Amino acid sequence: TKRGYDHFMLKEIHEQPHAVRQSIQGRIPDSREYVALDEFEPGEFDDVRDVQFVACGTSYHAALYARQFLLDRGIPSNVHSAGEYATNPPPLEEDTLVIGVTQSGETADTLASLRYAQAAGARTLAVTNVVGSTAAREFDDALFIRAGPEIGVAATKTFSSQVVTLALLSEVLTRDRTGSYSDQLDTLLAGLQALPDQFESLLGTNEVSHLLESYRGQDAYFFIGRAEGYPVALEGALKFKEITYEHAEGFAAGELKHGPLALVGPKTPVFAVFTGRNVEKTLGNVQEVKARGAPVIGITHQDHDKVTAVVDDVLPIPAAAPCLRGLLANVQLQLVSYHVADALGRDIDKPRNLAKSVTVE
Ligand code: F6R
Repeated sequence: TKRGYDHFMLKEIHEQPHAVRQSIQGRIPDSREYVALDEFEPGEFDDVRDVQFVACGTSYHAALYARQFLLDRGIPSNVHSAGEYATNPPPLEEDTLVIGVTQSGETADTLASLRYAQAAGARTLAVTNVVGSTAAREFDDALFIRAGPEIGVAATKTFSSQVVTLALLSEVLTRDRTGSYSDQLDTLLAGLQALPDQFESLLGTNEVSHLLESYRGQDAYFFIGRAEGYPVALEGALKFKEITYEHAEGFAAGELKHGPLALVGPKTPVFAVFTGRNVEKTLGNVQEVKARGAPVIGITHQDHDKVTAVVDDVLPIPAAAPCLRGLLANVQLQLVSYHVADALGRDIDKPRNLAKSVTVE
């Protein structure tokens, strides 16, 4: 049941503190000196030389976020859209680890990609929410994100649980590859432990609703970010278009000047995600859109005067560990999409032309 919420989506947005607590439950020791992912033997990924993620939609964005965790630990990886990968796969070796990220565990393109990789002799790992799913059963390993059932078609809490689980996995891969956890281990684990309460405090305020009136009836909505803010910008735009049916696009902030600026004007609000990284550069992009009359909504932690001085409106987030701030920004953007869709009277839990699991290629 929706337990007092108007929609499953809103209920599931509010379940994120609990979902993330479940995701880390028993996986972070008090000492924070190691990661307890009992699914894997120490050294299990010793011989992995290449990491490829395959996923679709929101899970693709979670994989992009995971790529950032690996990048920050000196481990390169590629993220592939599963629909492309399955039909146009990159070279694979036995020491390639292919990680399929799929909430439902039933997405046809993701399953086809993993099957291709398995047949080619690569190592396959499914990261999923559904214990009895095809993805959980068919491949070398399964890692569960433990978000609890998600009923709303729009993925919300599963994105957060995917990112949190993949953050833990990034440290396991680092350990196996380099012989030790990264020097960011304690910061990451402490950040993850603090995250559920930060989700709660964010969800306890309602900063979004006052914004909606001023930003209704626009031509298009753009979302920009860098580093971990980039997948969040893509996810913000995907959620927005899928449930409001308004035109929304997400960009890496640096891409704006390579074409998209042609569309920017007073009727194209721009949501700019700030995680604390590359702030000056993103502010430069904000100036570019403001010069064309676009209103800018900055998603940023409260005391970030540099940002708040420049943007038109602020959606505040708690000052979490910088690598996790994208998750909090994402919650604000989920709320934006939800409230805009609700004001437009959309069928939020069953948006048109989308199924909870897409079982055709
Ligand atoms: C967006 C959404 C879809 C799914 C995509 C992958 O809100 O729900 O984009 O994320 O179809 O689904 P899974 O994760 O089940 O493979």
